Parts: sequence; C-alpha cells; structure tokens
Amino acid sequence: MRAVIFGASGLLGRSMVRAFGDMTVTGTAFSRTAGALFAVDATSADAIARLLGRVRPDVVVNCVGERRPAVWAATPRRARAGNVDAARLIAEGSHRAGARLVHISSDYVFDGTAPPYRPDSLPNPLNAYGRWKLLAEHAVRAACPDAAILRLPVLYGPVRFVAETNLTEIARQVGAGAPVELDDVCVRYPTHADEAAEVCRWLAGALLQGQRLGSAAHWSAEQGLTKYRMALMIAHRFHLPAEHVRAGETDAASGDRPVNCRLDCLDLPAALGPVRRRLFDIEFPPAVEPWLTASGPAAGRRKDPS
Ligand SMILES: NC(=O)c1ccc[n+]([C@@H]2O[C@H](COP(=O)([O-])OP(=O)(O)OC[C@H]3O[C@@H](n4cnc5c(N)ncnc54)[C@H](OP(=O)(O)O)[C@@H]3O)[C@@H](O)[C@H]2O)c1
Repeated sequence: MRAVIFGASGLLGRSMVRAFGDMTVTGTAFSRTAGALFAVDATSADAIARLLGRVRPDVVVNCVGERRPAVWAATPRRARAGNVDAARLIAEGSHRAGARLVHISSDYVFDGTAPPYRPDSLPNPLNAYGRWKLLAEHAVRAACPDAAILRLPVLYGPVRFVAETNLTEIARQVGAGAPVELDDVCVRYPTHADEAAEVCRWLAGALLQGQRLGSAAHWSAEQGLTKYRMALMIAHRFHLPAEHVRAGETDAASGDRPVNCRLDCLDLPAALGPVRRRLFDIEFPPAVEPWLTASGPAAGRRKDPS
C-alpha cells in the first residue's frame, strides 16, 4: 500500500509518517524540505497532480494548514490559500487519482457555546481560521464525497521549535519567570499528535475496506484545561515558581476564541481499532521539558521539591 502525506514536515504530519509506517510513505513539505520530503506547493494543482501521478497512492492524508495567528493577520490571502485552496486541490487531485482521502479539520469550526459537539452539530466559526477550515470541509466534500474529514482539538507532541505548540509556548513562559497573564476561561483538550495520527491510520484502513464514514469524525482527549491550568501543571511538575503567572481572560475577551469546543467522539471508536489513549498528565512532561528555558530545563530556578 502507498500513502502520500501532504504537510509531512509539520507537527501532525511527522506523527502521520510514523503512524503510516506499515505503508510506503511519500511525505511532502513546503518550506521545510529537508531529508526525504518532496517539495510540493499544495496551492498548485499541477504540482499535486505530478506527485500523485508519479506515486499513485492508495491513500492520501492532508495535513496542510496555516494555523499561526500571526500569519492569518499579516498575510490573510496566503493563510486562506494554505487552508482552503490547498484542501480543495488535494481533494480534487486525490479523487482524480482514485486515492482514498483523510482530511484534517479543526474544532474551531464550532463557536464553543454549547459543548459537546457531535459530528452533525451546526458549525459556527468565530474567527477567520475557523471559517477557512469550514470552507475547506465543504470543498473536500464536494470534490471527494468519500473522504474522511477528521476534526481535532489543539495538539501537542515532540516539537522542533518552541512556538510549534501552545503547550511548549506556555512552558517557555513558565520557565522564563517574567510576569504573564494566561487565559483561565477557554477550555482546550490538548491531544497528542501521535494519538491523532493513529486514529487517521485506522480511518484510512476503514476507507480502504470500502467503509463510508459519514460527513465528519471527531477525536479528542478527554481532559479539558485552560492555558492557565496547563501553566500550573507544568510549574508543579518541574518544581518551578508560578507566582509570575496570572489567571486572565485574554482569549475569552477577544471574542474570536471559542470558550469550549469539546468534541463528542462517541461515534468513532466503533469504526476504529485499539487506539492508545495518551494521558496528558503522563505525556506533557517530556513534551515541554526541553523548552522550559532556551538552553534546556530550568534547573537553576527549581524550587525545593519538598
Ligand atoms: N496543531 C494543532 O493544534 C491543530 C489542531 C487542530 C487541527 N489542526 C490541523 O491539522 C493540520 C496539521 O496541523 P499542524 O499542527 O501539523 O500544522 P503545522 O505544524 O503548521 O504544519 C503545516 C504543514 O502544512 C505545510 N504547508 C503550509 N502551507 C503549504 C502550502 N502552501 N503548500 C504545501 N504545504 C504547505 C507546512 O509545510 P512547511 O512547514 O514545510 O512549510 C507543514 O508541513 C492542519 O490542517 C491544522 O489546521 C491542527
């Protein structure tokens, strides 16, 4: 079996390459084209068609996206293209190539006012990113009606730079010791990227067996945490002071961040095999430890563990 992972240089795409390790995997990147990854601009139909024509994959996974708020603000057309046009073109290309498609979407398609959200709950995105992810879902369904669309909440895992996840950015702020206010209203469900990728592998298997998976699927960790609560857990685990971290309402007050997008995943397990649930309490320390300071764990600033 052959798989193409679009966006394999990103956080989720790297996990995806591991999860599809039982297949022959071709990964693509855009700017981070090191190693065995193929450079493909996913906003170019020709580039997508060339790759899919050469590889002739059984399954395609689309992990391309632009989820950095700074890029949405600075270059909205580029961000929209990375989220919407790329999704449409990859779906059209996959359909033409006869490949099964798993497309990744986000819990930000919901407004966060009435959790939990089922796959058929009414989307109502609050910000541009959520609107783009929703437009992308519509485009994928139109171009590739058999595709599986998987909505995920905020992800964490092994990162390559501190700003790659919210969690490592929070760890840096805890370790830095400078006064900081973190939102204590909006509840997130940090989910390990490896777990999400494992779910995708099962979805791909189901598609390859000819199963129809409905209009969208949800997967999420169960533990809900605000950014402030995550900071306190990090400080506690690494015996770091937390007096400089204040509870605030920064995200909630902005009006464009959903307060609680808890995803109802009850429909999915029946379609899946045994996914290993990663518990946040156990998985977050190795993910954040290298990022507590620029030069490594903040040993010098640790409080006496007693
Ligand atoms: N991370 C989260 O918390 C989260 C939560 C829910 C849903 N999602 C969704 O999951 C998917 C993967 O997210 P992620 O966290 O892995 O994102 P990421 O780390 O930012 O990676 C994004 C990937 O997309 C590629 N890309 C961006 N623009 C491209 C273009 N024009 N052509 C080709 N490739 C392009 C990037 O390539 P280069 O880096 O090589 O340029 C990278 O491989 C996205 O759809 C995202 O919206 C993410």
